[in-house]
Amino acid sequence: MLGSGAREHSLVLALARHGNHELFAAPGNAGTAHLAENVALDPTNREVVVRTATELAVDLVVIGPEAPLVAGVADALRKEGIAVFGPSAKAAAIEGSKSFAKDVMHSAGVPTGASVTVSNRELLDEALDRSGAPYVVKADGLAAGKGVLVTEDREAAVAHAEYYLQDGEVVVEEFLDGDEVSLFFLSDGETVVPLSPAQDYKRAFDGDEGPNTGGMGSYSPCPWLPESFVSDVTEQIAQPTIDELRRRGIPFVGLLYCGLIVTSKGTKVIEFNARFGDPETQAVLARVSGDIAAILLKAATGKLESSDTVAFDTDVAVTVVLASEGYPAHPETGRVISGTSDAEAIDGVHIAHAATAETDEGLIATGGRVLSVVATAADFTAARARAYEALRKIDLEGGHYRRDIAARVSDEPSS
Ligand code: AMP
Ligand code: GLY
Repeated sequence: MLGSGAREHSLVLALARHGNHELFAAPGNAGTAHLAENVALDPTNREVVVRTATELAVDLVVIGPEAPLVAGVADALRKEGIAVFGPSAKAAAIEGSKSFAKDVMHSAGVPTGASVTVSNRELLDEALDRSGAPYVVKADGLAAGKGVLVTEDREAAVAHAEYYLQDGEVVVEEFLDGDEVSLFFLSDGETVVPLSPAQDYKRAFDGDEGPNTGGMGSYSPCPWLPESFVSDVTEQIAQPTIDELRRRGIPFVGLLYCGLIVTSKGTKVIEFNARFGDPETQAVLARVSGDIAAILLKAATGKLESSDTVAFDTDVAVTVVLASEGYPAHPETGRVISGTSDAEAIDGVHIAHAATAETDEGLIATGGRVLSVVATAADFTAARARAYEALRKIDLEGGHYRRDIAARVSDEPSS
């Protein structure tokens, strides 16, 4: 397992919970250390990753974050004959380049917002005139979650676009109105296998106020979706996208993250990512009822069959992210975290570590999104109650979390 966030801790937890595997996390974190052997390395360094995977004689490498994908780590491993769950750098451009993703979607007939890619101010003005407010302006390349602005304010839209036009292109997109859902697919380049839908909370504060973040919480499944949702997205979005990439000679082997908006005119893609989403993974994998190692290996080695499925518990899951004071702008780090054992003693609760470290003083926070509290239960009301009870037991000076995660699917909207 490459990576060090709560997503990677959740992957290691899922593998440890259901199978009898020897697990390595590189570099891992304070949470993975309990379940896997942490191996200190730079996960974007191709040579080091290949050498380490060879020395450890691993059967499979699972890549968590996008940076190693973009750096060509999957390509380097595959070249050495090492099975890897994660796309090539070229296929990962489905996440890294909005204009490439749009082009693939258009060729594949995949529903998405109308858009134009512009390279200068004149074309930008034309595109904004045509789209009208609210304006959706996206930097074309990877922008660490900061590249997208949705605004009614034309001047703000222009300022955002001009910043990114200095050294690249900008995509102006039709505003899509509806609920957002994330749905993940395992792919071996040809066949796709869906996981279960999740909803992510991207804004920092309750009621979707405040700045965009990496994600403040999630829940899975989404009971308000129509029953045919997963099969519709499989047939109309994931499979045609994978087929189109293969047709272009860039097979996508790994996890295709479909970021979707359910509009009154059907489900449309707002973005693809080339990796598991964070914090959706924490909720989705908490509900997996069997060992996923075999199916990840099948995906990595071109052996998925259309009859393959990932089985899920009937339990639901809620994930609430505990963030440091000042996150996302200027997170305070180095503060002590206490109470995690009491929190995890609650039935159905576990913690996925993200930015934590064990020190002589105890566990400390080392970054913005510190940890995810994950709670499962028979229904969302119970799962929320467990998650928030656990958070009340955890002490981190200045730490903050949203109180409204999964409120919309619960009978008890206040925590
Ligand atoms: P992205 O980085 O593409 O996921 O965009 C970040 C957030 O901006 C999304 O989660 C949406 O909430 C919002 N967004 C992106 N594209 C659109 C769109 N076309 N219409 C409305 N909201 C959007
Ligand atoms: N949850 C958003 C992402 O992983 O990109």
